Amino acid sequence: MTAPETGTPVAGAEALRDRALASLTTARARTTLLTSCVEDPDLTAQHSPLMSPLVWDLAHIGNQEELWLLRAVGGLEAMRPEIDGLYDAFEHPRSERPSLPLLPPGEARHYAAEVRKRALDLLETADFHGTRLTEAGFAFGMIAQHEQQHDETMLITHQLRTGPPVLTAPDPGPAPAFTGPAEVLVPGGPFTMGTSTEPWALDNERPAHSREVAPFWIDTAPVTNAAYLAFIEDGGYDTERWWTPEGWAHVQKHSLTAPLFWHRDGGGQWLRRRFGVTEAVPPDEPVLHVCWYEADAYARWAGRRLPTEAEWEKAARHDPATGRSRRYPWGDADPSPEHANLGQRHLGPAPAGSYPAGESPLGVRQLIGDVWEWTASDLTPYPGFTAFPYKEYSQVFFGPEYKVLRGGSFAVDPVACRGTFRNWDYPVRRQIFSGFRTARPETA
Ligand code: AVJ
Ligand code: FE
Repeated sequence: MTAPETGTPVAGAEALRDRALASLTTARARTTLLTSCVEDPDLTAQHSPLMSPLVWDLAHIGNQEELWLLRAVGGLEAMRPEIDGLYDAFEHPRSERPSLPLLPPGEARHYAAEVRKRALDLLETADFHGTRLTEAGFAFGMIAQHEQQHDETMLITHQLRTGPPVLTAPDPGPAPAFTGPAEVLVPGGPFTMGTSTEPWALDNERPAHSREVAPFWIDTAPVTNAAYLAFIEDGGYDTERWWTPEGWAHVQKHSLTAPLFWHRDGGGQWLRRRFGVTEAVPPDEPVLHVCWYEADAYARWAGRRLPTEAEWEKAARHDPATGRSRRYPWGDADPSPEHANLGQRHLGPAPAGSYPAGESPLGVRQLIGDVWEWTASDLTPYPGFTAFPYKEYSQVFFGPEYKVLRGGSFAVDPVACRGTFRNWDYPVRRQIFSGFRTARPETA
C-alpha cells in the first residue's frame, strides 16, 4: 500500500466563501493591472501571432466566468449569447482573433465587470455541496484559476510586446548562500501521484494513484543561465548529437542559437530583453524562455536527462519520513512569499538557490515558482481520469504532441499552482516562462 496524501484542509462554508472571494478579487486586480498599463491600441493589437490581443483575454475571462458561474451554477440566462463564439478558444485559433469583431476595450471591461458583480451575488448564497461543480466551491476556484492562467498568458504577451517598459516590480534580490549539494538522490519505490482530496484541483490532476519510481538523482536548483551559456559556448546548438531528430530539424530551420529574447552585443556579451529592459544576462538566474528541445539537448550534453513527470512530482511531494505525498515541497501550508516566487510579485525568477523555506524534505529548491520546468513526459491522463467539467480543459490535449511542465513560474498565482498542478505545451514553445532542471538514474 502506498501512503496517501496528507493534510488537505477541509473548510467550512464561510472559509470557502472567503477563499473564493479573495481568489477572484486577487485575479481581477491582476487582470486590471495588465489591461490598464497600456493604451487601448495596445490592447487591440496582436503583439505576436502566438498570442491573442489582450482585449480578447479580458472578455474571454468574463465569458468563461459567465458560462461556469452565472449559467452553469446560477442557472442564469446568457447575457450576450451572440459573443460566446468569439471567445471560444476552440472556434478561433489565436492568429485569427485580431480579425474578429471583438468587444472594444471599454465594452470588454464593462462586460467582465458586470459578470463579476453577478458572480459575487451568487457567491453570497452559494451552496458548497450537491454536485461536483458546487462541492467545496469548485466552480469558483476553477474560474479564479482560469483568470490567473490568462493573467500569466497576458504577461507573456507583455513580454513579447516591444517598446518602453510599462510594468515594474521589485527585484527578488540575491540568493542566500547555498552550501547544499548540486543534486540529491530520490529513493525508489511507490509514491502517491495526483490528488483526490485537493478541493480545487483540476480534472487532469485526479485521481490520486500509486506510481512506482526507480531511484534517481535530481538537481537541487533549476539550470542557470551560466550553466546554459556553457552549453552554448561549447557549440551545443551546432552539435547534432545532443538533439533529438525533431529538435535538430527545429533548431536548423529556425537558426536558433540561444534562448528567446537573448542576443549578443558588438563585443560578444550576451544580453537579454525583459519587459522592455535590455540588460546583461544574469549568470545565477534560472534559464528562461527555452523550448523542450533545448532543455532536452542541454541535459544530454550535460550527461543527464530531463526528469519524468512522475519523478518531478515525487521529488516535490514525497516525504521519506512518512511515505506520504505533501501538497507542496515544504508541507501542506499554502504558499507564502518565503516559500516561493509566485504571483507576479517579481517580473522574473529569483537566483538559483533562493527560498530555503520552500525546499523539499530531500533539499530540492524552487520546485514551485520561478520557472515552469519542462519534464520528459507527454501529457497523458492518470488511471481513472474523467473529464470535468468540459473535455476541452485537458482531454483534447492528451497525447504525444504536448510535453508536461511542472511547478509554476513567477507569473502564476498560488491559486493555480501546487505540487500536483500540470501544465503543457508544444515542445517548440519558448515564449512561455519555461526553464528546467535535470536528473539522472541512480546507477549512471
Ligand atoms: C493549461 C496553460 C495550457 O492557457 O492554454 C486557459 C490553460 N485553459 N483557458 C492554456 C487554459 C483554458 C491552458 N494551459
Ligand atoms: Fe481560457
